Amino acid sequence: MKLHLVLRFLFGPVPVYFSALAILIVLTNAQYFGLVGVGVPHTTKLVSSAPVVSVMKYCDIFRGEWVPDAEAPYYNHKTCYMIQEHQNCLKYGRPDLGFLKWRWRPSGCELPRFDPVQFLKFVRHKSLAFVGDSLARNHMQSLLCLLSQVAYPKDISANPTTQNKVYHYRAYNFTISMFWSPFLVRAREPGPDEPARTGHYSLYLDEADPSWVSQISRFDYVMVSAANWFSRPSLFYEKRRLVGCSFCSRQYGVPDLTLYYSQRRAWRVALQAINGLDSLRGRVVVRMLSPMSHFENGTWDQGGDCKRTQPLRGNETVMEGRDLQFYNAQMEEFRAAEKAAAAKGRRLMLMDATAAMLMRPDGHPSRYGHLPNQKVQLYNDCIHWCLPGPIDIWNDMLFQMLLV
Ligand SMILES: *[C@@H]1O[C@H](CO)[C@@H](O)[C@H](O)[C@H]1NC(C)=O
Ligand SMILES: *[C@@H]1O[C@H](CO)[C@@H](O)[C@H](O)[C@H]1NC(C)=O
Ligand SMILES: *[C@@H]1O[C@H](CO)[C@@H](O)[C@H](O)[C@H]1NC(C)=O
Repeated sequence: MKLHLVLRFLFGPVPVYFSALAILIVLTNAQYFGLVGVGVPHTTKLVSSAPVVSVMKYCDIFRGEWVPDAEAPYYNHKTCYMIQEHQNCLKYGRPDLGFLKWRWRPSGCELPRFDPVQFLKFVRHKSLAFVGDSLARNHMQSLLCLLSQVAYPKDISANPTTQNKVYHYRAYNFTISMFWSPFLVRAREPGPDEPARTGHYSLYLDEADPSWVSQISRFDYVMVSAANWFSRPSLFYEKRRLVGCSFCSRQYGVPDLTLYYSQRRAWRVALQAINGLDSLRGRVVVRMLSPMSHFENGTWDQGGDCKRTQPLRGNETVMEGRDLQFYNAQMEEFRAAEKAAAAKGRRLMLMDATAAMLMRPDGHPSRYGHLPNQKVQLYNDCIHWCLPGPIDIWNDMLFQMLLV
């Protein structure tokens, strides 16, 4: 089985040509779709007026239900060129568009629909960093598309071939950065001497990844998330000594401590590193995991798929298995770090969106992340989210969290 390929597809690097293409597409598609010189492609109400007060002051926005919603999404694959191919479900012909006709309604209030004008005014002269894996990028691209009704950023990434991105909105002097760090800790890819497709990542479970830790102090807002990559075969190091592994045989001479060991340790050390940053002045938001359990009728590598066309109700979902274990560990580590932060007079925030997303098995690309006739070694994607799609609410939530 081509495990390596599959994992790469599920959680792997963005094609490096994405940003180069983006520039090309802006020049071609934007003109084609009549965006150039027009600015705002929609007739949607873009006038923001009311004083901005977060509903979080009186409402738990993370508990609720999905309810039918007639309003069209703010963007689509024709108005937003920043959707990554694998999540571009409309472009690749997903037939049922019912999954776009739902809105998240918290139990105690209405969650205000994302207002890009208001958001951009609010974040003027500020900066936002996303730290994590391809789901963090999925989240970021949702934000880029929501904002595309008003403005497109300039890609000012230092090195367009890496996963790290920097986008700048000139008119608002607002910067969005992506720091690729799928394990949050220092990690090394499987070496060339490892078994070809099942090589083990090396995780340094007591060292937060310096590539983001050294950078986030200069940001006003930081969104941190991670989960899926802990499902990869890994070797665990502490004090630079091999202490254990996951999905490993006896050949390494250390115990299989399981992926739960690495996931918990990684969150602990990442959050400790954040709390240890004396110069940090921004607000850090931790996003709870996106469910990994939406494959039905088989596991991801055994023909499992996500073909539903409607959300579930809350009482039809149960968090269990890996989702539940990851959730509990992440929550415990967050609560401990939150206390430590409070002792320093700081605030860590939690975007607890797992329950809401658990109700959306209908929101994934499945096989609509590529052309039907395209020859690709791909499994059904029930991990990432279609754009537009349910994770647009992560940005509704994010805005309310920044307003608190
Ligand atoms: C843009 O924002 C940054 C902070 O993110 C600030 O340091 C800089 O002075 C701003 N530039 C202008 C031209 O206002
Ligand atoms: C699972 O398989 C059953 C029986 O073939 C089918 O009725 C059902 O729609 C499938 N569910 C999904 C989500 O694909
Ligand atoms: C879930 O709740 C809805 C509305 O409260 C109810 O109609 C439905 O029967 C419940 N379903 C289950 C499986 O309990």
